[in-house]
Amino acid sequence: MKYYIRTFGCQMNVNDSEKMAGILKTLGYQPAEDWKEADVILVNTCSVREKPDQKVLSALGEFKKIKKEKPNAVIGVCGCLAQRAGYEILQKAPFIDMVFGTTNIHHLPKLLEEAKSGNKAVEILEEIDENENLLDQFPTVRENKYTAFVTVIRGCDKKCTYCIVPTTRGKERSRRIGDILREIQFLVEDGVKEIHLIGQNVTAYGKDLGDVNFWELLEAVAQVEGVKRIRFTTGHPRDLDEDTIKVMADLPQVCEALHLPIQAGSDRILQAMDRGYTQKEYLYKIELLKKYIPDIALSTDIIVGFPGETYQDYLETVKVIKEVEYDQVFAFKYSPRPGTPAADLPMTENPETLSKWLNDLINIQKDITFKKNLQYEEKTVEVLIEEINEEGKLTGRTRTNKLVHVEGSPEYVGQIVDVKIEKVNRFSLEGKINGGI
Ligand code: 5AD
Ligand code: SF4
Repeated sequence: MKYYIRTFGCQMNVNDSEKMAGILKTLGYQPAEDWKEADVILVNTCSVREKPDQKVLSALGEFKKIKKEKPNAVIGVCGCLAQRAGYEILQKAPFIDMVFGTTNIHHLPKLLEEAKSGNKAVEILEEIDENENLLDQFPTVRENKYTAFVTVIRGCDKKCTYCIVPTTRGKERSRRIGDILREIQFLVEDGVKEIHLIGQNVTAYGKDLGDVNFWELLEAVAQVEGVKRIRFTTGHPRDLDEDTIKVMADLPQVCEALHLPIQAGSDRILQAMDRGYTQKEYLYKIELLKKYIPDIALSTDIIVGFPGETYQDYLETVKVIKEVEYDQVFAFKYSPRPGTPAADLPMTENPETLSKWLNDLINIQKDITFKKNLQYEEKTVEVLIEEINEEGKLTGRTRTNKLVHVEGSPEYVGQIVDVKIEKVNRFSLEGKINGGI
């Protein structure tokens, strides 16, 4: 019996898929190389913009074909789009056997049983399942052996007016610190060197528990023997305080990299988005980060064309990009999401203009990214070698999350090595290994 999982969306979805693979493994399933060989196909969906929505529907159209060869194969849909519009999907694609929401994953064994017996298995709870932590008991099946995602908080209490996440993922629920540390201990014993703490809003960790906060979590994780690197995503600018930044700087394992979404540069738009900070306040946090962690690589998310955004507003975003000099920017056109507060606001710019704004912004950032990469020329950097790529080269990442290719023997895979950078490309660095550590 084989399974195939197609994952859309963010790290939370990737981690959920790893858990589902773990559940299926426990049930005796093996991973399929190709979906055509699978007995169970799961589509883990994203709903953050309209495009991912459409991609899900076209993937389902493809997977439907399996029913011709294997009429008993089970097709399941889960994740954020399933949570938001599971019943609609079922109507549009009646060949689907199983639909479940983001907090019902631990019920996969039961749902699968039901689907296999020929019934439609549907579980989309509006309320958060208080037993969702049972999910933690299952192992994860990870593609990357040396770096692992660990979910520390689920959901989001912020009310950004464009965002569907509070609907699809519910309110903030932090995992107990003991459970998190136990999972990390297990991962380290399994060979993991880099721990990537994830959540929609990790900097809010502990607020709902009351007796612990995010920087205390960072300190506790750093104390786990064998954890060589720590990353976390995503932090909210409002919750990132000076104490946290100081702890990030002080803990040697915390990598010099941070993704801090600004979304827009104009104060008027930030307010309409209900982000809870002004451009000045955001830039102050950036200043603190650069002060305490001089080599930090910063990245951000940007939405272009929020309702009411004028060209002057947009230029404020461009100004911030030029000023901060991010290593990477993820920019998207605004996409109205049904049920969000901004969904009813009329679009004020035409789509062609917005495409041009977005393109110009991406081009400006391309040059900045390249300029940032050029700073690595002739430098020696620490790289965690993760795998051998198709060309037979070792591939890994710097602490600042830059992709590095080096020549070397396969024994280096899984090791942290010093690499002297000799060539800088737009999307990667190349170099030679100096020695292992
Ligand atoms: N339209 C466009 N982009 C969005 N994002 C979230 N909601 C929307 C939306 N309605 C972007 C934000 C967020 C990233 C994950 O997706 O920039 O940080
Ligand atoms: Fe997409 Fe947001 Fe869901 Fe992640 S949490 S899969 S980004 S909608």
